[in-house]
Amino acid sequence: MNLNKFERYPLTFGPTPIEYLPRMSAALGGKVEIYAKREDCNSGLAMGGNKLRKLEYIVPDALASNADTLVSIGGVQSNHTRMVAAVAAKIGMKCRLVQESWVPHEDAVYDRVGNILMTRLMGADCRIVDDGFDIGIRHSWEEAMQSVRDEGGVPYGIPAGASVHKYGGLGYVGFAEEVRTQEEELGFKFDYIIVCVVTGSTQAGMIVGFAADGRADRVIGIDGSGTPEQTRAQVRKIVDNTADLVELGRVVRDDEIIINPDYAYPAYGVPSAETNTAIRFAAQTEAMITDPVYEGKSMQGMMDLVEKDFFPKGSKILYAHLGGAPALNGYSYTYRNG
Ligand SMILES: Cc1ncc(COP(=O)(O)O)c(C=O)c1O
Repeated sequence: MNLNKFERYPLTFGPTPIEYLPRMSAALGGKVEIYAKREDCNSGLAMGGNKLRKLEYIVPDALASNADTLVSIGGVQSNHTRMVAAVAAKIGMKCRLVQESWVPHEDAVYDRVGNILMTRLMGADCRIVDDGFDIGIRHSWEEAMQSVRDEGGVPYGIPAGASVHKYGGLGYVGFAEEVRTQEEELGFKFDYIIVCVVTGSTQAGMIVGFAADGRADRVIGIDGSGTPEQTRAQVRKIVDNTADLVELGRVVRDDEIIINPDYAYPAYGVPSAETNTAIRFAAQTEAMITDPVYEGKSMQGMMDLVEKDFFPKGSKILYAHLGGAPALNGYSYTYRNG
């Protein structure tokens, strides 16, 4: 496998810390040891998160393209568009964003706080549109690129979640390599990795990275999309493309792609009572802040799987915390009493 042949533009602090979570492990019965890899603390750019690892491999292509404007898409409280806005500011490009109405959630300040507030502060041109949730390539994104061209600019397109971009999966191949190095320092290997999956390239990159030492099926994706077939198909596609790029040397089998669809209910971006319990649990045991769209659902999934004895006793579990806390501000009414 060869990741080093790809140029990487550093946007992060370096390897992210792995933190043992003793109070959470004990509160879940002491049957397993839970660790978190803190991707949410990976950078000084606008609070960081998983997208920066992906964008590190996309920025060199954007710079080489002679574009002057990054164009991307997400929901109103998209972490991804916040990260694209941050990168545009950092590399001196303009940024145009389509913010779709992905979430059937109402809060008086939903479109003014958290991610979108920071995105606007960084100078991005945010265009809110009515279209609903869809992880695929969107007409509104293509229109936004055309609008840049019509104004004489040169757009560089980054799809939702930076996922179906040709280099979208590379960053999380690097995550797997980083975990292997950290495992050597720790003196043990993780038995399972838990990761939230929606647009797919985070888990897809991990699958390819961990396929290199036969552990792809230990990456447990917890679906947050509520459209798991579409997410699975997108993960499959990104796995194949990324495996090709890094010369994995074999095809990843379907049974090595593990996505659990049980925790995305009632809908993308809408927390269930159990999601809210998980968010409060992580906050109150480890001061680890998770959000109602992504990490709250993967936290809920991990807790439930521990409770159901899905993991053999003594397993070491690595929870990939991918970021996303800024979205909590858009749910201020839900959490007004904690
Ligand atoms: C905080 C957070 N967690 C998880 C995800 C899911 O990652 P992916 O879209 O690569 O599947 C995202 C983005 O969609 C995110 O912003």
